[in-house]
Amino acid sequence: MRIPIRILGIETSCDETAAAVYDAERGLLAHALHSQVALHAEYGGVVPELASRDHIQKTLPLIRRVLAEAGCRPQDITAVAYTAGPGLVGALLVGAAVGHSLAWAWGVPALPVHHMEAHLLAPLLEPDPPAFPFVALLVSGGHTLLVEVSGVGRYRLLGESLDDAAGEAFDKTAKLLGLDYPGGPALERLARQGNPARFDFPRPMTARTGLDFSFSGLKTHALTTLRTHDDGDAQGRASVAGGRMPGATSTQTRADIACAFQEAVVDTLAIKCERALRATSLMRLVVSGGVSANQRLRERFAEIGNVKVSYPRLEFCTDNAAMIAYAGYRRYVAGIQLDQLAFDVRARWPLGFTA
Ligand code: KG4
Ligand code: ZN
Repeated sequence: MRIPIRILGIETSCDETAAAVYDAERGLLAHALHSQVALHAEYGGVVPELASRDHIQKTLPLIRRVLAEAGCRPQDITAVAYTAGPGLVGALLVGAAVGHSLAWAWGVPALPVHHMEAHLLAPLLEPDPPAFPFVALLVSGGHTLLVEVSGVGRYRLLGESLDDAAGEAFDKTAKLLGLDYPGGPALERLARQGNPARFDFPRPMTARTGLDFSFSGLKTHALTTLRTHDDGDAQGRASVAGGRMPGATSTQTRADIACAFQEAVVDTLAIKCERALRATSLMRLVVSGGVSANQRLRERFAEIGNVKVSYPRLEFCTDNAAMIAYAGYRRYVAGIQLDQLAFDVRARWPLGFTA
């Protein structure tokens, strides 16, 4: 009897603990996630030590849950994939230690997975997946990468952020506007009430050639605009980081700033993607990572002509283990694996580019 390939995936790189089981023939069998948002909310951002401790508590119960939901026994698992980086070192070590221990106990390989490669491959979990080659825009909290993708493991970096990542810029600007962590989705909600005609923010690095990004100036632009508009009303609340008294800026003005900021980020990303597609003569675009959940981004990208744009489903735009199990599966069948007891994790890790 032929035994199907089944990969257990584990994700613990930042503030989400997740586990999933991917089956080569039947697709995703189960996935589960525990978000640490409530744990970090009072600090306004992720506290690495708290994140690691919470991963320790949540990882094994989540693995038990997905194995039960997938109807799998340990002996049905072919390999264990875990996020080896980039991410928070303490958090990564939890997934790596659990992943390696289980793999050793079950006598199967452990597969270290690059978190951004997993984001890149996530749209391939969806129906009608994009065929290789394509251009990928990866927009997460830690990275903004434009990549030419010829196949699994065949990546050529076309451009990247020289300072803040797109998600980081959303988070920092959200904080300036007095919004709670996590900032990206909160800023998107506020921007919906904004008047797009009121402020016009610059599109950084679009006037010159090249495919790199710079978003930190937009955050400063938002701060300057906030400081020069003290039209506070009863409900208006500007952040302390904005250097103003609470209530100095009205809710409407903050929504208008959020709207202008979001428009500038999304438009800049679209302009660079159009350029990358022209430069590579490719007609398929994959957009993935937390910021790809942004609805305004999806509207703007729908305006790019003659291009098929693929996204992961909304819940797999942000961190999850389905993409880790899937990336592990693609590496396993491609024969790229590291089967050893010693393991390492990496806070920083360039995507392996072999054009
Ligand atoms: O991919 P991800 O879950 O984690 C990393 O690998 O970093 O991305 C998280 C980032 C955060 O910066 C978050 O604010 C941003 O994605 N994000 C969004 C939205 N949802 C998540 N940014 C803008 N609009 C959204 N709807
Ligand atoms: Zn991520």
